[in-house]
Amino acid sequence: MTQHQRLLIIDFGSQVTQLIARRLRELNIYCEIHPFNRVDDAFLKAFAPRAVILSGGPASVFAEGAPMPPGGVFDLGVPILGICYGQQVMMHLLGGKVERGKGTAEFGRAYVTPSDARLPLLDGWFAEGREQVWMSHGDHVSEIAPGFAVYGTSPNAPYAITADPARRFYAVQFHPEVHHTPKGAKLYENFVRLAGFTGDWTMGAYREDAIARIRAQVGDKKVICALSGGVDSSVAAILIHEAIGDQLTCVFVDHGLMRLGESEQVVGMFRDHYNLSLIHADESDLFLNRLEGVGDPETKRKIIGGLFIEVFDKHAKAIGGADFLAQGTLYPDVIESVSFSGGPSATIKSHHNVGGLPARMKMQLVEPLRELFKDEVRALGRELGLPESFIRRHPFPGPGLAIRCPGAVSRDKLDILRQADAVYLDQIRKHGLYDDIWQAFVAILPVRTVGVMGDSRTYDYACSLRAVTSVDGMTADYYPFSHEFLGETATRIINEVQGINRVMYDVTSKPPGTIEME
Ligand code: XMP
Repeated sequence: MTQHQRLLIIDFGSQVTQLIARRLRELNIYCEIHPFNRVDDAFLKAFAPRAVILSGGPASVFAEGAPMPPGGVFDLGVPILGICYGQQVMMHLLGGKVERGKGTAEFGRAYVTPSDARLPLLDGWFAEGREQVWMSHGDHVSEIAPGFAVYGTSPNAPYAITADPARRFYAVQFHPEVHHTPKGAKLYENFVRLAGFTGDWTMGAYREDAIARIRAQVGDKKVICALSGGVDSSVAAILIHEAIGDQLTCVFVDHGLMRLGESEQVVGMFRDHYNLSLIHADESDLFLNRLEGVGDPETKRKIIGGLFIEVFDKHAKAIGGADFLAQGTLYPDVIESVSFSGGPSATIKSHHNVGGLPARMKMQLVEPLRELFKDEVRALGRELGLPESFIRRHPFPGPGLAIRCPGAVSRDKLDILRQADAVYLDQIRKHGLYDDIWQAFVAILPVRTVGVMGDSRTYDYACSLRAVTSVDGMTADYYPFSHEFLGETATRIINEVQGINRVMYDVTSKPPGTIEME
């Protein structure tokens, strides 16, 4: 466990619990989210939090088996902040009353006015006499627990802000973690300050810590890492390399489905800049031969995934095997979700497991980014000296250009696609749009169309441009390029890329579309 000062978030299943963690991490506070049904008194003792936050959640304290924290949480002697359902839990367990929502449910924007603003939690709040907050609750507190007093009210929430300052227990009806509570971050800042946090969770400190932990875990054994050229696996590799040097070998499997110049860039950067032991496995012939004539998207993915494992395994054996497999697993992938039906849910996402490698290779995992959110990984990458252009790269899918080439993949089509994609990205960069876009790429369509260039008729491929905005890739919207930009880009692609004579712009959102073509 980290040596940093720790804050525990007990999760009751709110949709926005992760945002609490985000706000705290922005304040350089180390925190972990744990589902209520995984936290017992022994856990509390071992975790030794300096403060606890009880999250919101969809349940009612009246429901049978309503989610509750372990009793010992109120005896820890540390500050506790209850949010929404967390507030109701505190009142319910500490001797107050909660009532079922009867006409008092409140969803959306509300304004809280102070009853008494001298509470340290409210320092810097109520500058204009009232503060906008975001409410989302059915039940409500109807009587506060002994020791508590009211510090803020809203028209529908007489107990919007309550506290027992002697015990440092705070309970609010609204959600300070969401964007619609503009001063919410200030509330968290005050809370962690009065809990005595010094903000020791910095990337510099994390780097030192992570290096020590990797050394302790690995000892003098060997580690192998599949480097994809993406930010997560790259940062993980550089960090591990800093910890154990040449005990780490990275394998970059070049499946022949990378973008123009990409393999050389990735390999060059790691070899020259980081002096990392790297196997550049050029297996493009193997992949492209096996993919020949295969048009079905799922079959393509299976072939690529299967070959990837085969090739990685081969190179791992060639260096005499390894005891550990490094992966760039992130914190959102390991947070367990709360389940109200049946036992605790253990749905840990596994999409960072490179094609099922760990199960097959029976190696222990080294996952030095398990505690980090994506933007923290980027910050760590900067700390480790990764160039900004690399850190800000758009995501690129494992199966590469194969899924941007609907229908059968061929070397000819891939060459055309690479060139068109390079022109498109050049346009986006030149117009200063790259960082506003989540992902942008060209797909080559399995159709030829007629055109006219000069005096001659052409019969070439059509391609489509895709650019989307997104927060997490789960939903996405198309990017609203100007018509001038689209026209200029189409002209450049058709003029500069032999083999394409028609350009479309894909304006499908996700859902119902996906970001990739296949
Ligand atoms: P879709 O197309 O499902 O893509 O909307 C969502 C995000 O995931 C990426 N993607 C993948 N990434 N291996 C990956 O590493 C894959 O097989 C894969 N398929 C899609 C896609 O590029 C987008 O960012």
